[in-house]
Amino acid sequence: MDRLMEIRAQVPAVSTQVYLNTGTAGPMPEPVRAAMVESLASQLADGRIRADYYVKLSRLKREIRERHAALLGCDPEEIALTQNTTDGMNMVTLGVNWQPGDEAITTNLEHAGALFPLFAARQRYGITIRIADVLDRPEEAAAVIERLITPRTKLISLSHVSYITGAVLPIREIAEVAHRHGVLLLVDGAQSFGAMPVDVKALGVDFYAVTSQKWLCGPEGAGALYASRDAISQVRITFASYGTAQSYDLYGGLLPWGNAKKFEQGTVQPAVLAGQLAALRWLTEEVGTDWAHGRIRRLAADARELLAAVPGVTVVTPAETAGLVTFQVEANADAVLKALAAQEIIVRTVPHPRSLRLSTGFYNTEEELERLAAALQPLARA
Ligand SMILES: Cc1ncc(COP(=O)(O)O)c(C=O)c1O
Repeated sequence: MDRLMEIRAQVPAVSTQVYLNTGTAGPMPEPVRAAMVESLASQLADGRIRADYYVKLSRLKREIRERHAALLGCDPEEIALTQNTTDGMNMVTLGVNWQPGDEAITTNLEHAGALFPLFAARQRYGITIRIADVLDRPEEAAAVIERLITPRTKLISLSHVSYITGAVLPIREIAEVAHRHGVLLLVDGAQSFGAMPVDVKALGVDFYAVTSQKWLCGPEGAGALYASRDAISQVRITFASYGTAQSYDLYGGLLPWGNAKKFEQGTVQPAVLAGQLAALRWLTEEVGTDWAHGRIRRLAADARELLAAVPGVTVVTPAETAGLVTFQVEANADAVLKALAAQEIIVRTVPHPRSLRLSTGFYNTEEELERLAAALQPLARA
């Protein structure tokens, strides 16, 4: 059995359907299920809080931080465990020392994960949000953003890969612009981490929020936030918990961790952490991240080519892609989505502009993409 078939055998959901929606949630591999069930079984058998409970839990958390650090190219001290991407985006966005009239910049390609924390900050602190229009020319995002910077700008918050168009934004250039003007840069890595190589130090970002349930194929409820050593002290704590503090004094208040742990929550479900770790181990040790990234990219390029040849289909995603390919159909997008689902081909729709989007997982096959293209032939035309 070749490598791809071995991997597919561990992800049963990809055999019962043409699963092209990893950008929403990756299919669960057997080792993730096994780790979660084992954790629950031990909670059932052992009554949860045994003498070694916290030792084991902190070992689990440490390895998850270390593995994220290894994948993101940073120090484990710069990783906070979170519940999902949006959790990390909130921690940073709401933790900036906002004063009324301060400004934030985002783009018109963003998910609620970046936008809603900004909207909440606007409501709470009276900030202004400036929107960079990068829809047609994402490669020029750094220049467009720089034109929006004023002396009041404190934060640039945007995604590395747009969930709408699949465009990969030039984060390194944007980081240079941000730092030239003394502005913090927060990146939503929901559609990049696990789908393409990400080196936070090379990119020069201050914060980078990621999750487990998409390109890592881990469980829901588990994510991570990279906070650079220099930026940690520039953002205040929004959710204070026993995970946040190294100690406290009833009269003096809490002494937060000096590292990224200062953003962490207290109680979490250990089975979720066990699943998160199992996904990280499976991806790095069994699948191989280089192999996975290469395959995701190649399949995305194949998808662009196959779709471009279907009458009535227009590919939206630029040539520089990660694992998302967005396309428009002349026919009604919702009707096409439904017709594809009836053939067990799973994609999704995205808004502004209303389009269909597929994700190429490393476990997908070239034949599955051909099946999608063939299914679209009679559907795409108005
Ligand atoms: C770009 C982007 N950001 C954030 C999210 C939300 O991620 P999470 O559910 O991990 O908060 C998604 C997808 O759901 C996304 O595509």
